[in-house]
Amino acid sequence: MSPEKLIKEAIIAQSRAKANFSNFKVGSAILTKDDRVIYGCNIESAAYPSTMCAERVAIYSAISQNITNFKSIAIISPSSAKPCGPCRQIIHEYLGNIPIYISNEKNTKEFETYFIKDLLPYPFG
Ligand code: THU
Repeated sequence: MSPEKLIKEAIIAQSRAKANFSNFKVGSAILTKDDRVIYGCNIESAAYPSTMCAERVAIYSAISQNITNFKSIAIISPSSAKPCGPCRQIIHEYLGNIPIYISNEKNTKEFETYFIKDLLPYPFG
């Protein structure tokens, strides 16, 4: 599956985000080596710290389904945001150094590609 197609899958996930407090909807889609797609969206809570990021929802969902053959991940947000610190740590530990495609819902043709070794140098663990 092309990065463009995976980004479109992340936009589907983004549409499911529950961002009632920040109004900042994030979607993620993990592609597996056997071409499956695992979705994640941010889910906010009135008890603010209970909020969970889109990337970690997808990663935790995949692992809980015993899916670990990760190929790439796409992350969509209005400002093409890069993953937060805790998400970088979890990406490092559980996804490894796979391509991370970042884009936004308005201009999906343009995307950036990152690797966690660059986003999280000198990781803990
Ligand atoms: N958010 C993510 O989903 N991923 C990140 O890497 C950073 C932030 C979410 C959390 C919260 O629901 C909203 O974006 C605003 O911070």
